[in-house]
Amino acid sequence: MDSRERSLVVVSAGLQQPSSTRLLADRLAAATGAALADAGVPLRVETIELRDHAQDLVNHLLTGFPSPKLEAALRSVVDADGLIAVTPIFSASYSGLFKLFFDVLERDRLDGMPVLIGATGGTPRHSLALEHAVRPLLAYLNAAVVPTAVYAASEDWGQSERPADDSLGDRIERAAGELVRAMAVRERVATVDGFAEPVPFDQLLRSGSGD
Ligand SMILES: Cc1cc2nc3c(=O)[nH]c(=O)nc-3n(C[C@H](O)[C@H](O)[C@H](O)COP(=O)(O)O)c2cc1C
Repeated sequence: MDSRERSLVVVSAGLQQPSSTRLLADRLAAATGAALADAGVPLRVETIELRDHAQDLVNHLLTGFPSPKLEAALRSVVDADGLIAVTPIFSASYSGLFKLFFDVLERDRLDGMPVLIGATGGTPRHSLALEHAVRPLLAYLNAAVVPTAVYAASEDWGQSERPADDSLGDRIERAAGELVRAMAVRERVATVDGFAEPVPFDQLLRSGSGD
C-alpha cells in the first residue's frame, strides 16, 4: 500500500434506488479524491449505505450489540481519515436512519474527525436543516465539521448525473477542498512526536495548490 494513501468513509442514508442522496455522496467523494489527487495523495473510499444496515441498527439499539457487519461499518468510520455524511431531509431534519447510525457510535469515537455534511431534499427551502440539525448532531459528537455543507434539492439535478445548477458543482468543490485541508490539519495535530518526520501530507497539499 502507498504510505501516502488516505481513507475516506462515505455514509449515505438514502432510501430510494437510485438514490439522490447516494448521487450527492458520490459527487462529494469524487471531488475529494480529485483534490487529493492534485496533491499526489491517493484516496481509498469506502461507501456505507445505511439502508443495508437498517435492521441491524434497530437490533443494536434494542440489544446493545452490533452485528458483525454493522460493527465492521462502525469501525471503518472510526478508523477513517475523513468522513462524508449525507442524509435525505425528512420532516425538515435528518432521516431517522441517519440519526440511528450516529446514535450507536460511542460519543468520543468521532473526536476531531474531519466531516463533510450533505443533504438532499424535495424542496430548496429546507437547505438550512443542514445547519440546524445535521451540523449540531456532528458537533455534539466532537467531529470537525467543515464550514461548507452541501444541499441538493430535486431541482438541482438535471436529466444527467451532473447537477443542473452550476453553483451546486461549485459548492461540492469548495466543500471537498475544505475536507482535504481539514484532513491535513488533523494529521499535523496528530503528529506531535518531535522525532517523527511530520507533514508530508500538507506539504503535498501546498505543492498541489501551487503556493
Ligand atoms: C417521509 C419523507 C419525508 C420527507 N420530508 C421532506 C422535507 O421535510 N423536506 C424536503 O425537502 N424533502 C422531504 N422529503 C423528500 C426527500 O428528502 C427527497 O426525496 C430525498 O432526496 C430522497 O432521497 P433518496 O433519493 O436518496 O432516497 C421527504 C421524503 C419522505 C419519504
